[in-house]
Amino acid sequence: MSVIRKFIDRCKQYNKVNENKNEKVCRCFNVCSDDIKNAVTKGAKTISDVREKTKAGMGCGRCNASVERITYKAIKNR
Ligand code: FES
Repeated sequence: MSVIRKFIDRCKQYNKVNENKNEKVCRCFNVCSDDIKNAVTKGAKTISDVREKTKAGMGCGRCNASVERITYKAIKNR
């Protein structure tokens, strides 16, 4: 098995293990992934709804990609 293949497999395992971890997503407003999931559970249907409820992504904007990823995943798993 090539070195690159081993690296990719380790990354996939790492992502599976940490997928459900409550990680801090937005440092500007101290928003965690569970806060975003809760916003979706409580009725947020779009990223704008999530931003309105949690304030995630409304500061520097560095977390926008993560906020979008977690929101789409939460909506998909609803
Ligand atoms: S880290 Fe989310 S707005 Fe700055």
